[in-house]
This record gives sequence, C-alpha cells and structure tokens, in this order.
Amino acid sequence: MAQPPKRESWGSKIGIILAVAGSAVGLGNFLRFPVQAATNGGGAFMIPYFISLFLLGIPLMWIEWAIGRHGGVHGHSTAPGMLQRLWKSRLAKYFGVIGIFGPVVIFVYYTYVESWLLGYSFYSLTGVLAGIHDQYHMAQFLSNYQSSMQMNLAFFIITFAINMAIIFRGVSKGIEVLCKIAMPTLFLFALIIMFRVFTLGVPDVAHPEWNILNGFGFLWNPDFSALLNAKTWLAAAGQIFFTLSVGIGVILTYSSYLKKGDDIALSGLSAASTNEFAEVILGGSIVIPLAFAFFGPIGIKEIAGSGAFNLGFVTMPLIFSKISLGALFSFMWFFLLFLAGVTSSVSLIEPAVAFVKDDFEFSRVKAATIVTIVAFLLCLPAIFFLGNGVVDELDFWGGTFCLVLFGTIEAILFAWVFGIDRAWEEIHHGAQLNIPKVYKWIIRYVTPSFLLVILFSWFFQQGIDTIMMKGVSPSNIPYIIGTRIGLLALFVALAIFVRIALKRREK
Ligand code: ALA
Repeated sequence: MAQPPKRESWGSKIGIILAVAGSAVGLGNFLRFPVQAATNGGGAFMIPYFISLFLLGIPLMWIEWAIGRHGGVHGHSTAPGMLQRLWKSRLAKYFGVIGIFGPVVIFVYYTYVESWLLGYSFYSLTGVLAGIHDQYHMAQFLSNYQSSMQMNLAFFIITFAINMAIIFRGVSKGIEVLCKIAMPTLFLFALIIMFRVFTLGVPDVAHPEWNILNGFGFLWNPDFSALLNAKTWLAAAGQIFFTLSVGIGVILTYSSYLKKGDDIALSGLSAASTNEFAEVILGGSIVIPLAFAFFGPIGIKEIAGSGAFNLGFVTMPLIFSKISLGALFSFMWFFLLFLAGVTSSVSLIEPAVAFVKDDFEFSRVKAATIVTIVAFLLCLPAIFFLGNGVVDELDFWGGTFCLVLFGTIEAILFAWVFGIDRAWEEIHHGAQLNIPKVYKWIIRYVTPSFLLVILFSWFFQQGIDTIMMKGVSPSNIPYIIGTRIGLLALFVALAIFVRIALKRREK
C-alpha cells in the first residue's frame, strides 16, 4: 500500500467551527429562509423546520463530521475513499463521487450569483443604487446588469479569483483565516442592519399600520393549514439541507482535516447553532419585516411570491434608497451577503481540490491550478446561458437532488453498514459533549426513514415534473438537454478519475 500523503490540518478548534459555520451561513440564511417561511405558513413553517433540524439536520451534521474525521485519519479527504471505508464494496466509491460532483455543480452557479453581490456592493458604495427610487427601474437595473457582459464578467472574474486565491493558500492559511475575518464581520453588519430595522418606526405616515411589528406578525403568524400540505414539509426539509450544507460533501472534507482525538460532537452542534442564529434570528428579522413596513400587506405578498432574488436584488436596494445613510446600509447588506457567499463557495470547491491533491499526491498549488481551470470553464455556461434555464437546472441537480440522495446514502451506510454501535462510538470519540442517548435511536431509525420518505415524496411531487421539463419554455429545452449531457459527462469523468485514484492508492 502506498504511504498516505501528508495531510493539511486546521490551526485551531474555533477555526474549524467557523469554517463549517461559514460554509453553512450563506445566501440561504438571509434570502431563501425568509421567503420559504413567508410562503409556507409563516410561524407554522417553523414546526416542520425544527422537526427537520432535530431529526435530519443535526444528526446528519454529526454523521458527516464523524465520517469525515474517520476518513481523514485513514488518509481520505473526500467521499469516495471515505464511503469505501464504511462499506467494503466496489460500488461505494461511485456513490462517493456525488460528494465531489454535487459541490462543484453548486459552486458553478453559486459563485456567479456571489459575483452580483460584489457588483451590487460596488454600486451601493458609488451611490448608483441609492439614485434609483422605483421598483421598475431597480428591476431594470438588475436585468441590465445581468445582460451587460463587461461588468458582469469583470465582477465574476474578481469573485472567482478571490475564491481561488483563498483555496491556493490552503486550509489553515486560506479558508480558516478567511472565516475568522469574514464571519465576525458579516455578523456585525447583519446586527447593525437588524438594529436599524428595529428602530425604523413607521416609514409611511399615511399607513401607520405598515410597521416593523406588523411585519414580524406577517412573517410569524402561523397558518396551521399549511401543515396539511406535503409541500410545506418538503420545503422545510430542503431548507435544512441547504442551509446547514449537509448532504453536499463539504463537511466531510472539512472534518477530514481533524485529528483522531478532536471533538466533533460539540463542534458540530456549535457550527449548526451558529447557522441557526444567523438564519432564524438575523435572516428572519431583516428582509420580510422591512419589506412589509415599506410595501404593506398586499405588496409584501407579491414580493415574497416573486422569490428570493427579487427580494434581495430589487426590493432591498429600493428600500435602502429610501432611508438616510441608505448607500452605507445597502453596502453592508450586499457585502455581508458577499462574505456569506465566499465562505460557502470556498467550501464547495475544496472537495475537488482535496481529491486531486490527496488522491493523486499533487501539491496544493498544482491541484488548485487544475481545479481553477476546470471550474472556470464549467462556470461559463451558467454565465452565458443564465436566461435559458441553465442555472435552475444546475440548482435542481446539484442543489436539491444530490443533497437528499447523498444524505440518505451517508445515513444508511453509517448507521446500518458501518453499524450503529461503531457509529455511536465514532461520534463520541474525543467528544466534549454527551449527546443524549435518544440520538442513537434517531440516527439508526428515524433519520434514514425520514430521509427515504423525503426522497420519495419529493421525487414524486416535484422531481418527475422537473425531469420531464414540465412548464419549460420550448426555446429553453435544447439548453436544458445540453446542461444534462454536460452534467452526465462531468459525473462520468469524475467517476473514472476516482477509480484510477483509488486503484493507485491500493497498490
Ligand atoms: N449553506 C449555504 C447557504 O445557505 C450553501 O447558502
């Protein structure tokens, strides 16, 4: 057997917690979550949300930290080798390919959206956005921005370069340093904006009932009838996956840089709690209450229904253009989202780099160079064919389907193939927290069954229609088919490299 290559490691315990929290805290917390809550029963949404958090999200968090650390101790940084250690079957590594493929696919469109945030931070600081005062022109600005290739591409290249520069610096000098700076900064900006929201009063004296308190009422008043709809439960489970970054493969790679005796029980819970604070407290207190206070109960329904992007890129800058020091608040808003985005996107590309580096025994510079070139080429279709449904297609496969599928595979392999007693011991090794015993039972029975139910109901409720391209405009169909062929080719190419790499290591 070849000697495992020298592994990188985290510089500190707080470093790994902030890095995993940084991967989790992203656009999902500040934009996706409030829209999901507002459109799926308000306060009632929090019932399936917390059930999914405790039965799905937190157990999967521990499962992934444990699989990752176990894999790392045996010289593996990514899912193929890790799953093969859990399950001695030739198939295991091919399931593991999803843990590299999925994050790369998300990275491709996530980084592009992140670059708009950098662009909008710039246009906030230069006062351009503060000069636009109505919905129509703000929406026009967004569409001009997206179609003007020069600015769009320039901000994309800068964003991409920032991401890759961090990756070139490695785990402790790159990712850890970034998260130690970016996480406190983005929390500070979010707290300042939240404070501004709380002190807003009544923006329109003609409508005194349009105030922040009623905005909170709009978001949190429960509509319990929504709980009878399977869609609400799927939306809550999907949000938990996306927001915690579980089922993607990134936590496996991050925790592979731990040492055998390092705690994972408390660290995993701390990272998840940090994410939940950012999501429920900060994410829940900014966009929806603010938009309610400015646009009233009818306007907010329309805005929430028009989706997270519209809320983030049209409604929010419009609101900031109406308040004093708006340019500054607008900058803080977009820059905090940009930081939240970068700490997530570096985690999405790290598994691919770790795979090339550790499984082919390349230096980090060489591995990062290869991944930079490939990732840049993969991003181009997302940029040029945004309007043709390519991004939605990537989000469907990378950001939805792969997550639930991969989460289910991990939970079953860990609890049933590796075995629950070994699994429980693995989670508790070096633990600084006594996980309640009931979680042994949850990890064994509840999480895998809950995941299978989610996977099947989601597939029949939404998956089939999406796969059959129901409702897609005929002019977009060639682009969608092209994207699918490209994704299949990427998956097959990765599977071939995984086979070569693992064979090499067995020698
Ligand atoms: N977890 C990241 C987010 O919420 C991907 O955006």
